[in-house]
Amino acid sequence: MIDLRIEYEYMKEEIDEAIRRCLEHQKWIFGPEVGELEKKMASYIGVKHCIGVSSGTDALVLSLRALAIKLKGTEYFDRTDEIITTPFTFTATGDAILRAGATPVFVDIDPVTYNIEPTIIEDYLKSESRGNVIGILPVHLYGQACQMDKINEIAEKYDLFVVEDVAQAFGGAWRGQKLGSLGDVGCFSFFPSKNLGCYGDAGMVSTNDDEIAEIVRMLLKHGGKEKYNVFHIGYNARMDTLQAAIILAKFKYVDDFNRRRRLIAEKYSSELKGCSALIIPNIYDQSHVYHVFHQYTVRVKDGKRDEVRSILKDRGIESMVYYPVPLHKMKVFNGRCKIFKGLKESERASREVLSLPIGPLMNEEDVVFVAKTIREILD
Ligand SMILES: Cc1ncc(COP(=O)(O)O)c(C=O)c1O
Repeated sequence: MIDLRIEYEYMKEEIDEAIRRCLEHQKWIFGPEVGELEKKMASYIGVKHCIGVSSGTDALVLSLRALAIKLKGTEYFDRTDEIITTPFTFTATGDAILRAGATPVFVDIDPVTYNIEPTIIEDYLKSESRGNVIGILPVHLYGQACQMDKINEIAEKYDLFVVEDVAQAFGGAWRGQKLGSLGDVGCFSFFPSKNLGCYGDAGMVSTNDDEIAEIVRMLLKHGGKEKYNVFHIGYNARMDTLQAAIILAKFKYVDDFNRRRRLIAEKYSSELKGCSALIIPNIYDQSHVYHVFHQYTVRVKDGKRDEVRSILKDRGIESMVYYPVPLHKMKVFNGRCKIFKGLKESERASREVLSLPIGPLMNEEDVVFVAKTIREILD
């Protein structure tokens, strides 16, 4: 789906130099690159604190644990504590809620953006089935911002925290504000295929809240300020120095790469426009959203998605389904989640979506080739 080797070749000198510097200083744990990255990220995202952690999943778990410690004074939330989220996301989003001790409440998505639908969040909060809701966990899926004005308005009205899952949307924005700075906490992933990816696992927490930042810093190193005298049930969830060095080297390219992704998306859309069996992403009527196209995802109508995918594969074109199983259908959430009003749009999306190859260094001819092949199959 994305050729990481081409990206490496493109910035080989900087990456090699960054790794060489680490080999030289040998400070593999909490080396200088981690602090440097945290400072640069905080200024880029526009928050007081960025904290490097070991993965996007750990960013979510640590943030939610820190909120439990801050808000309840307990290590974990309680199963009666509810966090509203989308079922149309990667497992880690819902899994982190379980691991922090709370119950995920799945509400449906907007069929156009695939993101959580704020009006349904409010419907749940007004419903009889509502329990002790403590927070909302919106996911900026495929690189596109959720409706943060409405989500924050609801959060304020019902006194809820907002944790943004920004794993797929590094550099994306809502009304000019970077994602990860709009909620109480933002959680990022630097998984290799992300818009800003490292060469292994790494993640990051962003926040303006001093107390949350302090607790996350404790949790990521076993739960204490001091290594040999800890306060909380912690983790070994530090960001590697080496990964920080690689992210720093790639960071200067990310805005340009996101611009290129947007151009590729535009090209796909112009090539695929008018194909009646497809629904292309809605990118033009949302001037307040800076979509960074982690994925370019179309909907294939009439139950043809899997057939299209298989023909594409035969012709040497990779495509992916993000996500074939919505979270509420997974065994792990069985009996551990709440489902509000049925989740028809999430289920329909999981049957229809298809993500096409996209990467910042993909060339226009390849985009045209993929689009033409799809049209040959469907037109
Ligand atoms: C929406 C979402 N949340 C969380 C994660 C977890 O990130 P990581 O793989 O770095 O643990 C990912 C990505 O993998 C993701 O796409």
